Amino acid sequence: MSLTDLIYAGSNAVAGLTEGAVNDAIEKYGESHAVGYPDTAYFLPIIYAATGVKIKTLGDLPAAVGILKSLITNKDDLGEALNAGLATAVGAEIIEAIRYLDGDPYAEDAGIGFVSDPIIRSLGVPLVTGDIPGIAVLLGESADPKTLAAIVKDYQEKGLLTFMVGNIIEQASEAGVKMGLDYRVIPLGHEVTSVIHVVSVAIRTALIFGAVEPGKLADFLAYTKERVPAFVNTFGPIDEVVVSVGAGAIALGFPVIADVEVPEVPGALMTQADHSKTVETSLESRDIKIKVTKIDVPVSVAAAFEGERVRKDTMFAEFGGNKTPAWELVTTGDLAELEDHKITVIGPDIDDAMFEDGKTVRLPLGILVEVAGKEMQKDFETVLERRIHYFMNYIDGAMHVGQRNTVWIRLTKEAYEKGFRLKHIGEVLYAKMRADFDNVVDKCQVTIYTKKEDVEEIYEERVKPIYVQRDDRMSALTDESVEEFYTCLLCQSFAPSHVCIITPERLGLCGAVSWLDAKATKQLDPTGPNQPVVKGQAIDERLGIWASVNEAVATNSQGAVEKVTLYSILEDPMTSCGCFECICGIMPEANGVVIVNREFSDVSPVGMTFGELASMTGGGVQTPGFMGHGRQLIGSKKFMSAEGGLERIVWMPKELKDDVAERLNKAVKEMTGIENFADMVCDETIAIESEAVLEFLESKGHPALAMDPIM
Ligand code: SF4
Ligand code: NI
Ligand code: NI
Repeated sequence: MSLTDLIYAGSNAVAGLTEGAVNDAIEKYGESHAVGYPDTAYFLPIIYAATGVKIKTLGDLPAAVGILKSLITNKDDLGEALNAGLATAVGAEIIEAIRYLDGDPYAEDAGIGFVSDPIIRSLGVPLVTGDIPGIAVLLGESADPKTLAAIVKDYQEKGLLTFMVGNIIEQASEAGVKMGLDYRVIPLGHEVTSVIHVVSVAIRTALIFGAVEPGKLADFLAYTKERVPAFVNTFGPIDEVVVSVGAGAIALGFPVIADVEVPEVPGALMTQADHSKTVETSLESRDIKIKVTKIDVPVSVAAAFEGERVRKDTMFAEFGGNKTPAWELVTTGDLAELEDHKITVIGPDIDDAMFEDGKTVRLPLGILVEVAGKEMQKDFETVLERRIHYFMNYIDGAMHVGQRNTVWIRLTKEAYEKGFRLKHIGEVLYAKMRADFDNVVDKCQVTIYTKKEDVEEIYEERVKPIYVQRDDRMSALTDESVEEFYTCLLCQSFAPSHVCIITPERLGLCGAVSWLDAKATKQLDPTGPNQPVVKGQAIDERLGIWASVNEAVATNSQGAVEKVTLYSILEDPMTSCGCFECICGIMPEANGVVIVNREFSDVSPVGMTFGELASMTGGGVQTPGFMGHGRQLIGSKKFMSAEGGLERIVWMPKELKDDVAERLNKAVKEMTGIENFADMVCDETIAIESEAVLEFLESKGHPALAMDPIM
C-alpha cells in the first residue's frame, strides 16, 4: 500500500469507530447529555480550534463526525492525506471524550489522560525560557525495553517534556525511568487514541498563549509548526491507525521518526532504526539545541528532576526545615582573593554524622557561595541566590524548599548509595553559577558548614546583617525611585503580541521575573528579552501611563497593543500571555475583585474556575476587568491602585491568602491603617456563593463595600 492509502485506511477506520461510539453514546445517554473534558475552558479543544464549534452535548457530536468525514477525501495527494490525519485526531478526541462520560477513564490506568488547562499554563514559563527545550511524543511497544529506557532518560536529562502512549509506559517504568508530571515524563495512556491528549496540549497552547482565533485551522497549524517544538517517535511495527495519527502529527508540523521502515517524507516522516541515534535524529528534525553543563557528581542533574519530592520513607538526610538551623547566601567576594572552584565542607558529612531515630541524618547547614567578577553587582546577589533553589532541585535525589534561613533540604537514600555527599552540592552550585551567569561570575567558591556552632555564629555575624541590608534596599525600591522599567519579551515565542512591563513594584505576571531579575538579565544578555524603558515624565501618575512605556509596548507588540496603564485593570490594562500565577476579576456585587491562583480548581464566587477566568484574557489581548498577575503583586501598593488598590480584594483561595497575608497586611496597614486586612478577605472555607460572601464581608466591615462603585 502507498503512504496515502495507508493513511486513508487508518482514518476511515477511526471515522467508523467514532461514528459507532457517538451513536452508542446517544442511545445510552440521550442527545442532551453533557460531554466534555475536565478542567478546560475550551470544550473539545481540537474541534473548537479547527471549526469554532463549541461541543457541549452528545447531540452536538454527529455534526462534528460529518466534518471529520469530509476531511477524508481519499484522493491520492499527500496534502489531502495529511488532512485525513487531522480527521483521525478529531475522531480520537471524540472517542476519548465519550470515554469520560462514565467518570475518569484513567483512574485505574498508568496514564493520566486529558491534561488540564492549569497544567498547560504552568508549562508556559519553562517552555519560553528554554528550560524545556522540546516535547517528545513516544508511541508503541519497543522490542528492546533497555534502549527505550535509555532514550527516555536521555530526553529527561536534556530537559524535554516526554509524553508516552502504549506499552512503552510499562516497559520504561520497569526499566527504572521515573515518571509523572514532576519528572517531565508523562504517561498518557495505553490506547492509541490517548495520543490525542498531547495534540490537545499543542492546540490549547495556541488558544491560550497565541490567542489564535477558533475556526482558523490554518493559523493553528502554522502556530504549532512554528512555535511548539514537538516531534514523535514510534516504537515497533506500525499499523494504519498509527500511520494516520502520524499524518495528523505531520499536519501539525511535528516530524515522525519511526524505528521500522516507512516511506520517507523529507523533514516529516523518517526511519531511524538505530536506537542509539534516535535522540540525535529527533532533536535535529526540529532543530532543538541543548546546552549541557557537565558536572562531576554521581547522580543526574537536570531540570526534569526539579519537581521531585523527597518523602520520609525515601529520605536519608535532612537539613533545616525548622529542625536544624540552616541558611544559604550568595555574596560578592574579592576577585583577587577568591579561588575559583574551591569547594570546602567544614564539619561532619552525611556519612560520618550521628544517626538519629535509627536512620535519618539531621545536620545544621550553612551554604556560602562567594562570587566575583568585573561585571558583578551587589543587586545581582539575590538573583543568583534565588537560583540555588532551582539548581539544588535539579539534583536527582535532592529536594530544596524555601530560601535564606528558612531553607529545608532533603537527600534520598538512593543518592547517598550512589555516592552523593555534601561536596557535590558545592559542585552543582559551582557549575551552574558559572554556566548560567558566565557574564558576571568569573570566580565562584562554595563553603558548606555543618557544625552547629559555625552555622549559628556565621549566621549572626555575617549572614543576617546582609539579609537586613537587602530588605532595606528592597523596600526602598519603588516605581518612583528608579529611572527605568524593563520590558520582558520572553513569552513572545508563544504569545507573539504580549509584552510585560516590569517595575520594582510590579513583577512579571509569571511570578518569575522581578525588576532586579530583569536588570540582571540585561547585564547577562545585553540584546536579550529584558530591555530598559527609560521612564521620563508620567502622562498620568494615578493610572500609571508613560509615553515611553506605550512606545515600548507598541514597538515590541508590532503595533498589536498601543497603550497600557500600569496601575489600572479597567483602562488599557497590561496584557498577559497566559502563564500567569493568578487571575483577578471583578465581583460587581461586592464592589471589589476576586483573585484565583492556578492551583485552585474549584469555582470562584464569580461563577468561574481559574481556567475559565483565565480564558477571558491572555494571548496578548487587552481585556478590561481581568488581570493576570504574579502572587507577589498581592502586597504591592501598586496593585490596581487606580481602582482603589489592595482594599478591593474581597475573596481569595485560603492557600493563597495565607501565603500572601503577611505582606498584604503590612501594605494595607501602611496605606490605610487597617490592621489584619487578610482576615476581612473571604475564602472558600468561609463561603463561595455570592450572597454568603457578601454577608461575610459585611460582618467584617470590609472597606470595599464603602468605596466608590468599581464600575
Ligand atoms: Fe513571560 Fe512576562 Fe514572565 Fe517575561 S515576565 S517570562 S514575558 S510572563
Ligand atoms: Ni530534585
Ligand atoms: Ni508567559
